[in-house]
Amino acid sequence: QEQQHQPLFAQMQRASDFYEAMLRSHEQRSKAVDYLQRRGLSGKAAKFFHIGYAPPGWDNLLKQLAPEQPKEQQPKEQQKDTIKQLVSCGMLIEKDDDGKQYRTYDRFRDRIMFPIRDARGRTIAFGGRVLGDEKPKYLNSPETPIFQKNRELYGLYEARKIRQKLTRFVIVEGYMDVVALAEFGIHYAVATLGTATSEHHLRRLFKIVPEVIFCFDGDQAGRTAAARAMETVLPLLQDGLQARFLFLPDGEDPDSLVRHEGKDAFEQRLNQSDHLPEFLFAHLKQQVDFDTLDGKARLDQLAAPLINRLPDGMLRQLMRQKLKEETGVDSHALNKLEAEAPASS
Ligand code: CTP
Ligand code: MN
Ligand code: MN
Ligand code: MN
Ligand code: MN
Repeated sequence: QEQQHQPLFAQMQRASDFYEAMLRSHEQRSKAVDYLQRRGLSGKAAKFFHIGYAPPGWDNLLKQLAPEQPKEQQPKEQQKDTIKQLVSCGMLIEKDDDGKQYRTYDRFRDRIMFPIRDARGRTIAFGGRVLGDEKPKYLNSPETPIFQKNRELYGLYEARKIRQKLTRFVIVEGYMDVVALAEFGIHYAVATLGTATSEHHLRRLFKIVPEVIFCFDGDQAGRTAAARAMETVLPLLQDGLQARFLFLPDGEDPDSLVRHEGKDAFEQRLNQSDHLPEFLFAHLKQQVDFDTLDGKARLDQLAAPLINRLPDGMLRQLMRQKLKEETGVDSHALNKLEAEAPASS
């Protein structure tokens, strides 16, 4: 299995080396370098993450990795094999075949390239960002024989490489978030790849550390992602494991915020982030009118299935207790009920 994919890993590495070289030497590199500088990225961070540049044009990668050769030098078959491998790992796209000729073109053009690496450091995919406001802002490798989106995390290999002893991970949304946090000395951020946080992702992380902190963008999408992540993480929370949630000010993401306020302030936010029970109840209370009995009954309805997703253990008992406390008919609710009752009877 692994053996059979060897050529794909090799092609991805060649592609990564090519994009890195283009950031150093392509005639249009300055616009890529300027862009990275404007975003505050140091050369050191770019190097550490092997960030590169896919130049404009339809066949840069194709020509570099699968060059036309005089017949006697490279058998045509070999070029064909290379092209097939590059198609298979998502780097080339097949054009409509006109029947006569097999034609392909570069998937990534005029983009900043972020190589995505597996646990062993092998490049298995790329994320590519435009330099301006064109759409789509990010283009990612498709699923390939060596890349499954819902298993891989950007920055995981790099985090483990920098620091052997990790105690927690921060899960962020974007490539730039991971790179910016690392730049500021927060080397334990990883990003999902334009997909929701999956059970696979979380299992991977919990094998390494006992604590993950979800830190999505301070916008509606980020808050929705956090709620979904909570549902996904619940069944994994055996005693001793912790999930926490950090909500950023509106309009901020980890990249922008760490640049605004620096490492210490950002880490302080992480240290003070919500524990799962706090977030769960705060989130549910937003969905009900908690000042009414009816709202409390609704809270009970919403919370119970979530709490039941937790494995048997301390946290589950604690949450059940908390739910009882939250929904128990207290004097405030009683007073309100009595005050409202006559009007409706
Ligand atoms: N993403 C994607 N495709 C898009 C937009 C986003 O795959 N068209 C993924 C990328 O992994 C991106 C993440 O979702 O990094 C978060 O998106 P967003 O917050 O929009 O981007 P940022 O990472 O903040 O990018 P930047 O700061 O470069 O604008
Ligand atoms: Mn490299
Ligand atoms: Mn966003
Ligand atoms: Mn951003
Ligand atoms: Mn963002």
